[in-house]
Amino acid sequence: MAERYCAENISYHVGQRTLVNDVSLTLSKGELVALIGPNGAGKSTLLRLLTGYLKPASGRCILAGIPLDAWRAENLSRHRAVMRQNSQLGFDWPVEAVVSMGRAPWGRNPEAAVVQEVMDLTGCQPLAGRRFAALSGGEQQRVQLARALAQLWSEGSPRGWLFLDEPTSALDLYHQQHLLRLLKSLTRRGQLHVCIVLHDLNLAALWADRIMLLHNGRMVSHGTPDAVLQTDALAHWYGAQVHVGRHPVHAAPQVFLTP
Ligand SMILES: Nc1ncnc2c1ncn2[C@@H]1O[C@H](COP(=O)(O)OP(=O)(O)O)[C@@H](O)[C@H]1O
Ligand SMILES: [Mg+2]
Repeated sequence: MAERYCAENISYHVGQRTLVNDVSLTLSKGELVALIGPNGAGKSTLLRLLTGYLKPASGRCILAGIPLDAWRAENLSRHRAVMRQNSQLGFDWPVEAVVSMGRAPWGRNPEAAVVQEVMDLTGCQPLAGRRFAALSGGEQQRVQLARALAQLWSEGSPRGWLFLDEPTSALDLYHQQHLLRLLKSLTRRGQLHVCIVLHDLNLAALWADRIMLLHNGRMVSHGTPDAVLQTDALAHWYGAQVHVGRHPVHAAPQVFLTP
């Protein structure tokens, strides 16, 4: 299986604007890496480039030593899955059908056992039988996570590279914690490797192994949560008045806004 997921000097432009500017990064197996940065920094664009939905103007992405555009689409779909920001479905399907869509790269008949297992893992069982379009934003995010995990399911667990774009934006406290604990425990087992765009820096501080900070399309800082989440740096890059302290119980930094 793929050892690393790399971007080498990737850039992307629309018209005169450079949305992603010469970004290089390496994601390693078993890691949970958070991508942070202000609104419009280019996080979603970078995620689309990394996952092959956009083609970089220069530079390249490489999975397991093979350039992304040399992968067969179906094979790539078995090794990397994406949970997008605010993904809307054009049709009104039952929850189980949406989760089953994740199995498309694996053949015609989605295995009911896999669908049930990912629904269990992601807390989607109470949503069984409901119409996706009628769910709340947070409920839809849980179903989208289940779909993405179903896509990577192989030999009894999710395996490969999972990219998520602000998957907690509509989740309540319980489900934020549930999602991050789940991703953390899956990455700890070493079969799943996660790159997650997070708006909430304190979630990144508690769960990420590494954080990458994007600003105006450039990667301006990366490292451990302690290295990246520094008062002066966050004030500079976000333009906000903040104070970085410590979690009262755990050894993680926590970011506080100054009133
Ligand atoms: N297709 C596009 N055409 C023009 N500008 C775009 C396009 N997509 C994104 N942008 C702009 O590029 C910047 C980065 O967008 P995005 O990657 O969505 O940022 P983020 O996810 O960090 O908030 C934003 O200013 C956005 O308005
Ligand atoms: Mg975004």
